[in-house]
Amino acid sequence: MSLFIPDLTLTPPRQEPLQVASETFVIRALTPSVGGTWTNLNAMLIRAAEPVIVDTGMVTSREQWFADLFSLVAPDEVRWIFITHNDSDHSGNMVEALQRCPNAKLVTSRGEAFRCAASFGISYERMHMVDPGETFDAGDRTLRAVRPPVYDSPYTRGLFDHSTGVYYASDAFCAPNPEAPVDWVEDIDPSAWATTMAQFHLASLCPWIGLVEPAAFQRELSGLEQLGIAALVSAHAPAMRGRSVRQAFANLARLPEVARAKA
Ligand SMILES: [Fe+2]
Ligand SMILES: [Fe+2]
Repeated sequence: MSLFIPDLTLTPPRQEPLQVASETFVIRALTPSVGGTWTNLNAMLIRAAEPVIVDTGMVTSREQWFADLFSLVAPDEVRWIFITHNDSDHSGNMVEALQRCPNAKLVTSRGEAFRCAASFGISYERMHMVDPGETFDAGDRTLRAVRPPVYDSPYTRGLFDHSTGVYYASDAFCAPNPEAPVDWVEDIDPSAWATTMAQFHLASLCPWIGLVEPAAFQRELSGLEQLGIAALVSAHAPAMRGRSVRQAFANLARLPEVARAKA
């Protein structure tokens, strides 16, 4: 197997925060990836009555990440910091965000909460734990923790906003951003998107997917799709909406067979 080393001396193009639904913004960064492509490192802000940060970006983009975030919400207004899982590209600024947002509580899975307490000394009093299907109240809306269909940590929880239909899928539905970056996945050639999306999943997220029975995986996908997702935000892809959401599910459904064909 070849080892690809992205050229981290390249300066990534700037991507401003992207509004994907009412009061819902993707806070973005790009990092160089293989073949001249870029990888999105996305987080999200839901400007609910009690504002919610969803993931916290990376240490390497800290200054711009906080500048983008606080251009949209004041630090003392943030009430919840939802961490999908404790990988460094999702929780890179978690500790600093808790320090800079004094009224915010950390929301994460029970398993991840234990790790946050053990690794970072975050007190349980400042945490709210949610496992799959459980909800928390952000003042004007209910947010539900929904485990994505593929993940690289069993503690991973995605987040569904019933009021906007936005689902934040953490690592799932990842796909490279092309050499000329786009905001929405609909601006990528559909066939190139399907191919590179499968490659990204198999190389970086769920190499185990070939062990999964396709019919069982389809049932898992169908359960998620039935939520009625209007816009889908992956931490590592351009945003998806409308027809692209349906196509994203179809692309993902093929993963077990693609993995088996490559084995
Ligand atoms: Fe991850
Ligand atoms: Fe990730």
